[in-house]
Amino acid sequence: MPLIKDLSIEMNGVRCENPFFLSSSPVSSNYEMCARAFDAGWAGVVYKTIGFFIANEVSPRFDHVRDGSGWSGFKNMEQISDKPLERNLEMLARLKRDYPEKVVVASIMGSNEQEWQELARLSEEAGVDILECNFSCPQMTSDAMGSDVGQNDDLVARYTAAVKRGSSLPVWAKMTPNIGQMEIPALAAQKAGANGIAAINTVKSLTGIDLNSFTPEPQIRGKSSISGYSGRAIKPIALRFIAQLMQHPEFRLPISGQGGIYTWEDAVHFLLLGSRTLQVTTSVMEHGYRIVEDLKSGLSHYMQDKGFERVEDMVGLSLQNTVAAEELNRDRIIYPHFDHKSCIGCGQCHLSCQDGAHQAIHWDHQSRKPTLDKAKCPGCHLCLNVCPVAGCITPGEVISKQAC
Ligand SMILES: Cc1cc2nc3c(=O)[nH]c(=O)nc-3n(C[C@H](O)[C@H](O)[C@H](O)COP(=O)(O)O)c2cc1C
Ligand code: SF4
Ligand code: SF4
Repeated sequence: MPLIKDLSIEMNGVRCENPFFLSSSPVSSNYEMCARAFDAGWAGVVYKTIGFFIANEVSPRFDHVRDGSGWSGFKNMEQISDKPLERNLEMLARLKRDYPEKVVVASIMGSNEQEWQELARLSEEAGVDILECNFSCPQMTSDAMGSDVGQNDDLVARYTAAVKRGSSLPVWAKMTPNIGQMEIPALAAQKAGANGIAAINTVKSLTGIDLNSFTPEPQIRGKSSISGYSGRAIKPIALRFIAQLMQHPEFRLPISGQGGIYTWEDAVHFLLLGSRTLQVTTSVMEHGYRIVEDLKSGLSHYMQDKGFERVEDMVGLSLQNTVAAEELNRDRIIYPHFDHKSCIGCGQCHLSCQDGAHQAIHWDHQSRKPTLDKAKCPGCHLCLNVCPVAGCITPGEVISKQAC
């Protein structure tokens, strides 16, 4: 079905028919997969990271944390591509030849400056549009590669500069979230000539532990190790890093945002905090390439509803409303309002207010309806957060604390 809005956007002078890219991972690891993704409607792919190093992967390599019907988080132990460099370069060249309107990004990873420079040169020769430096894979087996590089601003600067020497293409530096201040490596990349930032890669994690063998999952001959977490659970972490980068006074680069994008609403959140393009892996691993149809159609309808003509018009709009804690208003209380008509009498608000808040809800055992004791309520809104009925508890009367 044709979209009601033009979703195109530019990043580093490269036109993208919509903001949606596959991120570098198994979802983009060969020609045939990327071609199917393009046919499904993705604007671009960041191809599975290539390098001189060829991964020898563990089996099994995944684990997940489930919440209801789907994954709330996904753990992987995968490294970079397990195919020879020449084969990957040949597939990248073929992709660009067969899909000239789509954006092909080569994700690269070297172990020294010469390798980074050479990978950049070879990828440009293959015809890709953009280079993404993978400074952030948390499960490499060498300190010279992966997320340890992304924690070291000196290495980020040296490797970015090497990539810039090897090619004239736009270069994105992909950041690790396994760090306190992402601004430090991001500014180092900017200073060394990077043209964009990709954020975030996976979060170092341990998920479940087998209660009989006492081994974390996934178990590889009775052992496991710390490795990257992705999907829904990491979206708040990604948004925080992106907002902090965008608000840093010296930061000037466009961002390709990622980490837990499942729905068009998630996509809008990333755009509103300053991402220009969006990348996705985990939800594609769970639901397939076809999710791009919902992402595009939802974004398009949202733009229509809000009166945005271009995707660009919404980029960064929420930054002005994202402030330091000391700048927040602390003079008011907003009491919750209980709609007794829609209340199903479950008692959840009362229970949480009793044991997790301020004992400000009176519970009528006969009618099974809550009423508020304003004298005790500081307006924390735990009750709104736990109520299972949408719109049943809403923000109500607003008072000034001085009036109390
Ligand atoms: C199985 C798996 C393999 C991945 N491999 C790579 C990789 O080779 N290069 C890279 O830059 N990121 C890699 N990633 C990270 C993703 O590109 C992405 O940054 C991360 O998963 C967060 O996005 P998501 O929550 O949409 O998955 C991988 C992620 C997963 C789940
Ligand atoms: S806002 Fe907080 S204190 Fe007030 S009723 Fe709700 S949970 Fe209780
Ligand atoms: S949590 Fe909501 S539905 Fe349940 S008793 Fe409270 S107001 Fe009613």
